[in-house]
Amino acid sequence: MVEILFGKLALPKDGVLVLPVGEELPLTGEAAMLDETLGGTLSQAMQAAEFKGKAGQSLNIYHAGPYKRVVLTGAGKEDAPRRALLLGAAIVSALGKESEAAILTHGFTSKEAAEIGLGARLRGYKFDKYRTTQKPEEKAKLKKLKLLTASPKEAETAWESAEAVAKGVEFTRDLVTEPANQLYPAEFAERLEGLKKLGVKVEVFGQKELEKLGFGTMLSVSQGSVREPRMVVMQWLGACGHGDDKKAKKPRDPLVFVGKGVTFDTGGISLKPAAGMEDMKWDMAGAGTVSGLMAALAGRKAKVDAIGLVGLVENMPSGSATRPGDVVKSYAGKTVEILNTDAEGRLVLADVLYYAQERFAPKFMVNLATLTGAIIVGLGHEYAGLFSNSDELVGKLVDSGEAVGEKLWRMPLAKEGEAYDKELDSAIADVKNIGGGRAGGSITAAQFLQRFVNGTPWAHLDIAGMAWGAKDAGVNPKGATAFGVRLLDNFARGFEG
Ligand code: BES
Ligand code: ZN
Ligand code: ZN
Repeated sequence: MVEILFGKLALPKDGVLVLPVGEELPLTGEAAMLDETLGGTLSQAMQAAEFKGKAGQSLNIYHAGPYKRVVLTGAGKEDAPRRALLLGAAIVSALGKESEAAILTHGFTSKEAAEIGLGARLRGYKFDKYRTTQKPEEKAKLKKLKLLTASPKEAETAWESAEAVAKGVEFTRDLVTEPANQLYPAEFAERLEGLKKLGVKVEVFGQKELEKLGFGTMLSVSQGSVREPRMVVMQWLGACGHGDDKKAKKPRDPLVFVGKGVTFDTGGISLKPAAGMEDMKWDMAGAGTVSGLMAALAGRKAKVDAIGLVGLVENMPSGSATRPGDVVKSYAGKTVEILNTDAEGRLVLADVLYYAQERFAPKFMVNLATLTGAIIVGLGHEYAGLFSNSDELVGKLVDSGEAVGEKLWRMPLAKEGEAYDKELDSAIADVKNIGGGRAGGSITAAQFLQRFVNGTPWAHLDIAGMAWGAKDAGVNPKGATAFGVRLLDNFARGFEG
């Protein structure tokens, strides 16, 4: 983890110094002074290397005066979206194996300096807890970044809330990266109990409680596994006007977030092919994101009432597993004919979504799930699929995502009884868990969820293409992205007083 510190906007004595430069950000102030002290080394190097300071570019000058290394980093265009955030990420990538550095954030406000810090912290994430033979020089490199800015106090205040979001993202990435032998439903739930220290109310439901509630579709997924299922309900009641009596606190018009938490998806009896099956350790990314979001909201004491619910199961084939053709009864009372045991995420969500509505009467309900491979075919790894029954909610979510660089693309959702929906009619039960064929697979999955939504303004985010990155990109190092945490944190900001 990269520690982010702030200091006065002045040249440090020695060490590694990062200088943002760009077409609209020439070497001015302290940077110009430094260039002068160094006899024009920086400006000459920029000329010689034809360094224009485009976003993502960098130029190294070693042994420049008292500095071990000066890193000129492209500051990009002034009006580029998320310029400071992406600069922070680019700096971490440019610094490579360096362990400490200072950044002279001339040309940026102190609030932007905190944003640079956030970009750096997010990009500097590393998961190396299972490496025991790594040499020190191979270990997580960057330890400390000091941002030099006009008002360190102001930057620190902005950083308090940014760091809470960073911690939420890191919590999500840790959960998503864990292998499934380490992170199974009970262990996941236990880690969520840790959110209590942030002031989150955490309730855990086990096998017996879920049976008593009648969570028939969710339990049909976990019944083939030796790992017991869990549902975890997390409540962050931060809205004003609750009064002092903590016990009397009840959520008011809460925002409700629901996550698919399949800690491993083999497909069950409808077994997946071997190639790439290891990816299914991150089939709990929806639940991981909801968890990190709750950590972020509580960590920055957001003035909203937000409830997070996660359905945690492992989908395994065994003698006790659900068979294709089985009929089960959902918590909502509807019967479901399970024709493909690999379409399990929707079975988990059906029960949890219905429970969430009944108990919390959400103002808005948003679920996240690595639900279908088909969404990757349709949208690739640029946009998550967004399905919703509310134009208002769509507008808010798309805008919230755009602002943080987590993009959503709206997909069709039909009313009940219309074409896409009709595909789910079963010959012997109220609904079946897959559509007629492969065509429109992400849409029929969303239609299935909608059958368990009771008029609540609701959105479903299919994040199958976004939860895991094959390579470093922007603020995301290769691996778990925590897509959705910053988007929904930003969405929640729209409801704060
Ligand atoms: N977890 C998968 C979807 C998935 C695929 C996520 C690839 C991430 C990467 C989901 O449970 C699944 O298996 N869906 C099936 C549905 C089908 C059986 C109707 C799919 O997409 O093939
Ligand atoms: Zn599946
Ligand atoms: Zn799945």
